[in-house]
Amino acid sequence: MNIGMIGTGSLGSILGQLFCKNLHKVMFTCKRPEGLHAFTKAVGSNAFYGSVEDVLQFADVHVIAIPFLELQNLAAQCERFTTGKVLIDTTRPCPKGKKILVDNGFINGSQNNYISHLFPNAYLAKAFDVNSYEVIKKHAFNSLLQQKLRIPFTANHPEVKQIVENLITHLGFIPEFQPISNYKAIDIAKNQKTEQQFKM
Ligand SMILES: NC(=O)c1ccc[n+]([C@@H]2O[C@H](COP(=O)([O-])OP(=O)(O)OC[C@H]3O[C@@H](n4cnc5c(N)ncnc54)[C@H](OP(=O)(O)O)[C@@H]3O)[C@@H](O)[C@H]2O)c1
Repeated sequence: MNIGMIGTGSLGSILGQLFCKNLHKVMFTCKRPEGLHAFTKAVGSNAFYGSVEDVLQFADVHVIAIPFLELQNLAAQCERFTTGKVLIDTTRPCPKGKKILVDNGFINGSQNNYISHLFPNAYLAKAFDVNSYEVIKKHAFNSLLQQKLRIPFTANHPEVKQIVENLITHLGFIPEFQPISNYKAIDIAKNQKTEQQFKM
């Protein structure tokens, strides 16, 4: 599968490298993607870099691993490229982000509806937001650990649920699906699409 990694900081760089190890092809981006040449070369032949637009054209599935406060900029930059795309959001709202959510009427300062408001035409999932990148790095593909790491996730479409579940499993974790209504951080129900509309 071709995966787009939007954000190549602590979390994005680790997740992307893990996906490359699992033989997925990953295109990384960040604010200054030209600086990713050496990084992608070191990761190997499954790693590429490009602009956000390049990534959105290259990949089937996109992981958003940028600071919460940057989500609005990202949406403004590329919302029209995200129609029908699968976006996996990893962000956690920082205190300032929570205030923005409250000020804009998003329920209780949580991420309810915020992502679907920013990317109204995308298929959405939320995953990899609970554990730190260090924990993810330590537990991935680690058969020596007695217990596999559980990764909670949610998704707004059955096929997206399956895709995210597979990706989590590929990294050696146990996917733990939570219905959107129960997922602590995000309510993406309003983005639900019909089977006919879903294209991968
Ligand atoms: N770190 C963790 O353990 C962890 C765990 C769970 C969830 N998260 C969540 O994951 C997200 C990323 O965290 P992080 O610790 O990896 O942050 P980070 O180390 O600061 O990395 C952020 C990355 O996002 C890029 N970026 C920022 N704005 C962008 C934009 N508009 N378009 C494209 N790329 C952009 C940055 O690019 P430049 O380098 O060019 O500025 C950088 O590569 C956060 O929302 C955080 O809440 C993090």
